[in-house]
Amino acid sequence: MKYSKHFVAVSVLVLGLFVIVYVLLRSIYQLPVAASAEARGIDALFEGHFFLISFLFALVVGFMLYSLVVFRRRPGDESDGDHFHGHTGLEIAWTIIPLGLVIFFGVWGAQLLGDISEPDPDEMVVQVIGRQWSWSFEYPELDEMSSDELVLPVDQPIVLQLQSEDVLHSFWVPEFRVKQDLLPGEMRELRVTPSRVGDYTLRCAEMCGDQHAYMLADVRVLSPADFDSWVQEQSEAGAITELSPEERGAVWYTQFGCNSCHSVDGSVIVGPSWQGLFGSERVLESGQTVVADEAYLRTAIFDPNAHHVEGFPPVMPTNFEEQFAEEEDQYGGEIIIVEDLIAYIQTLSEEGANGE
Ligand code: CUA
Repeated sequence: MKYSKHFVAVSVLVLGLFVIVYVLLRSIYQLPVAASAEARGIDALFEGHFFLISFLFALVVGFMLYSLVVFRRRPGDESDGDHFHGHTGLEIAWTIIPLGLVIFFGVWGAQLLGDISEPDPDEMVVQVIGRQWSWSFEYPELDEMSSDELVLPVDQPIVLQLQSEDVLHSFWVPEFRVKQDLLPGEMRELRVTPSRVGDYTLRCAEMCGDQHAYMLADVRVLSPADFDSWVQEQSEAGAITELSPEERGAVWYTQFGCNSCHSVDGSVIVGPSWQGLFGSERVLESGQTVVADEAYLRTAIFDPNAHHVEGFPPVMPTNFEEQFAEEEDQYGGEIIIVEDLIAYIQTLSEEGANGE
C-alpha cells in the first residue's frame, strides 16, 4: 500500500483537470446552431470526442505534472530511482482499453454515416453545380428551375447531387454539419433534412484557386408555404424572361400602371397616348420641338419633369427608375424594363408613318 496515497491524489488531480479541460474545450469549440436532422447524431459524436480528448489529456498531463512536482529530486539526494522492469497487467490494460475505444468510436461513426446517407422515399432532388468560383442550383422536380441561392423547405429530406465543372470543390454548410467534395466528371450525393427555418451560408471547403475564399452562396430554409411561394415567384420570373422585349413591355405597361394615364389606341386619358408616339414630333411648353426617339422616351419615363409636353399637366411620378430597378433585381440583370417599354412603344407606331 506504499503508493495508494499517490494514486488517490493523482486521481483527484486527473478528475479536476478533466473537468477544467472539458469545460474550456466546449466553450472554445462551440458548434454553430444545428439546422438539420443529421446534426443531432453528428453533434453527439462530437460530444463523445470532446469527452474522450479531455479525459486523455487530463490523464497524461495530470500524471506528468504530479510526478514532476512530487517525485522531483530533493537537494542533496544523489541516489538512483527505483528500478522497474515492465508491468504486464498495465501493458495489457493500456493496449486493450485504447483498442476498445478506437473500435467503439469506429463503429459509432460508421453506423452514423450509414444512417445519414440512407435514401428517403420522400426525398427531393436538388442539383448543385460548383465552379471557379460560384455555385448554382437546379430543381429537376420543379420544372428544371434554377437559382443562384439554395432555397430549401424545412423538414423535407433533400438529396443533393453535386457536380463540379472544373476542379475539386466542397459543399459545406456548417449548420447542416454534413459535408461532401465535388469531383469533376463524377456525381456525388449528399443527404440533408433542414430542420430549422433561417438563413445560412454555403462555403466551399476545398482550396480551389485564388478566389476560393469568396466561393459562397446564400442558403435559405423556408416554411413549406414560403417555399411554395418562392417556387411560384421563380417560375413566373422564368416565364417573363422567355418573352420578347416587346411582349414584356406590354406586361410592364399594366404592371407599373402606365395604362392608367396612357392609352395605346390613340385616345387621351391623362398623358399622351402611346399609339403613334414613337418617332413623332413633340411640341414642348417652351415652344421647342423634339422627336420622340429612344433617348427622349427614356428621359420622359425616368425624369418626366425634364420636358413638359404642351397640353399635358406635369403629374407623372418621378420614381420609375427605382421601381424598375427593384423589379429588375428579381431577374439578375437579365431584363431592363425601360428598354422593354420603349420596344413596346415602338411597336405601337409601326403601322403608322414611322414604321421601320
Ligand atoms: Cu471551390 Cu474552394
